[in-house]
Amino acid sequence: MFGIVVVLFAILVPAWAISREGGGDASPQSVPADLEDGKELFVTNCGSCHTLYKAGTDGIVGPDLDELLAPPSPSPPAAETIYPRVLSAVEDGVGGKMPKGILTGPQAKEVSEFVAQVAGDR
Ligand code: HEC
Repeated sequence: MFGIVVVLFAILVPAWAISREGGGDASPQSVPADLEDGKELFVTNCGSCHTLYKAGTDGIVGPDLDELLAPPSPSPPAAETIYPRVLSAVEDGVGGKMPKGILTGPQAKEVSEFVAQVAGDR
C-alpha cells in the first residue's frame, strides 16, 4: 500500500510540475492594480520561503500558501476569513519557525490583503 502511494507520488508530482510550467502561460501572473504593491512585497519578503501561485514564487521552507489557506473546495474560504490569519502570521510569527515582524504596519496589511485575495487562484 505504502509502495503504491510512493510510486504514484513519484509519477504525479513531476507531471504536475511540468504541466504547470509548460502551460503556455509564460507571462507573469497578473493581478489587479491595487494588489500590485502587495505582490511586490510578497515576492521580496515571503517568496523565498513560500509558494504562492499568483506571486510566481516557489519557496519550500514554509507551507504552500495556496494549499494551506485555500485548499481546493466547493466553498473556498472568503478573503475576509484568510486575511486575519495571514496578518497574524506576519505580525506575530508562526511556531518559532516563521520570524515575526518581517513586515509591519501598513506593509504587513498590504501583503496580507494580497495573499488573502489571491490564495487558491491558480
Ligand atoms: C524564513 C522563512 C519564512 C519567511 C521569509 C516567511 N515565512 Fe511564512 N512561514 C514560514 C514557516 C516555516 C511557516 C510554518 C510554521 C509552522 O507551521 O510552524 C510559515 C507559515 C506561514 C503562514 C501560515 C500560518 C497559519 O495560519 O498556519 C502564513 C499565512 C505565512 N507564513 C505567511 C507569510 C508571509 C505573508 C510572509 C511574508 C511577509 C512570510 N510568511 C514569510 C516561513 C517563512
